[in-house]
Amino acid sequence: MIGKDEILAAFRFRHACKQMDPEREIPDDEFAAILEAGRLSPSSFGYEPWHFLVIQNPVLREKLKAVAWGAQGTLPTASHFLAILVRKDMRFDQPYVDGYNRSVAKLADEARAGREARFRNFQEHDHRLLADSRYLLDWAGKQTYIALANMLTAAALMGVDSCPVEGFHREKTEALLAEEGLLERETWSLSVMAAFGYRVNPQPAKTRRPMTEVVSWVR
Ligand SMILES: Cc1cc2nc3c(=O)[nH]c(=O)nc-3n(C[C@H](O)[C@H](O)[C@H](O)COP(=O)(O)O)c2cc1C
Repeated sequence: MIGKDEILAAFRFRHACKQMDPEREIPDDEFAAILEAGRLSPSSFGYEPWHFLVIQNPVLREKLKAVAWGAQGTLPTASHFLAILVRKDMRFDQPYVDGYNRSVAKLADEARAGREARFRNFQEHDHRLLADSRYLLDWAGKQTYIALANMLTAAALMGVDSCPVEGFHREKTEALLAEEGLLERETWSLSVMAAFGYRVNPQPAKTRRPMTEVVSWVR
């Protein structure tokens, strides 16, 4: 494990890096570690409602520029460009959930039934996620942001810059990825994207509210 100073140094190093050095590539093993940080991320009930699409094709990146206003500087310059897809079929009664419980979590019958009941109650009553398909999608999308954050931090710990990207027209970007055969629209939606690479410009000063305003302690 590493010390707090190194951890905070990485958090201070990380910033939304908008222009990257097109000549510098992240070594394969380091990018693999960034993806692994995403894969190991926690998710609600552990269902991993995500898929990581690494977009290296320059022609596709150019097409994305037309629909992703927030990635104008990074799409052409990032060493690696990531789209995080989110599952739409995260209802308690969908085959993905059952398949996950059986094949990935490898739950025995009794444990599986208990988990299914808890998950149904969670979706129906605790968080009322079933009233609108958008609620369910947004809940699943929240999980993808945990993976996103972990990947940004893992990158920073290795001295790799990044920029999260929500600046895209969802409908048009999904249509483009679907046209390219990269997103099956019945089951998947585009949650968020991120660029990874190396800065060319100095990092701007951080603007954050003071800790006293951000945190309250209850003793
Ligand atoms: C979910 C999310 C989406 C973002 N989308 C974009 C984007 O599309 N383009 C961009 O340049 N910055 C984007 N940002 C960067 C934020 O503007 C930036 O993180 C914020 O201003 C704080 O600055 P810092 O990250 O440099 O500390 C996004 C950040 C987050 C967390």
